[in-house]
Amino acid sequence: MALSGLGSALLLSSALLLALSGLCTARSDAPRGVAVGFVFDPKAKCEPPCKHAGVCIRNNTCYCAKGYEGESCQYANCYPKCKNGGACLRPGKCRCPPGFGGRYCHKVTCQGGCWNGGECIALNGVAKCNCPSSWTGSKCQEAICPQGCRNGGVCVAPGICSCPEGWLGGACHTAVCSQPCLNGGKCISPDKCRCRPPYSGPRCEERNKSH
Ligand SMILES: *[C@@H]1O[C@H](CO)[C@@H](O)[C@H](O)[C@H]1NC(C)=O
Repeated sequence: MALSGLGSALLLSSALLLALSGLCTARSDAPRGVAVGFVFDPKAKCEPPCKHAGVCIRNNTCYCAKGYEGESCQYANCYPKCKNGGACLRPGKCRCPPGFGGRYCHKVTCQGGCWNGGECIALNGVAKCNCPSSWTGSKCQEAICPQGCRNGGVCVAPGICSCPEGWLGGACHTAVCSQPCLNGGKCISPDKCRCRPPYSGPRCEERNKSH
């Protein structure tokens, strides 16, 4: 059994003094706040021994120093309690699980931050960037191009594709022919014309003689 919260460290040291001077029981002039019958047995044995400067006041009863609790004062306590699954390492010192920070693990922290207006939130105990609608990715670092970027284009900002050479248009869907396709031919990929019959040639400039 552990006694804790009986009083301050001051009360504890008073109890110790009484004990060390050979007086085994709390006296009537004991400081207010000491529980009636607070008995310190100098021969008391606590097994396992009291940890973290806890004092063995009766057989198997530890009086814990401020900041510790448990049968043998083995647990540090943190007030406010560690949040989000944090563990109390030392009194008032929490070790936070990944994704959480701050003195009491009350702050959610997204590794590397959230970009482009994303907000770091805790979702089922996991830190996560909540991205604005036009951005995605773990850090909201990827823009969304709803139209898609074709032909090797890369979405560089919401709705904006960066197109490779030879392609143009909002979705990089328009091929560029440096020389225009003639006679109704259509530029179907960079510098490649698809010709209407009876034309042929790189620019559809030749008329097929057999017709
Ligand atoms: C405490 O335990 C010891 C043996 O471990 C025993 O001799 C002693 O009488 C006990 N004291 C009390 C107050 O029960």
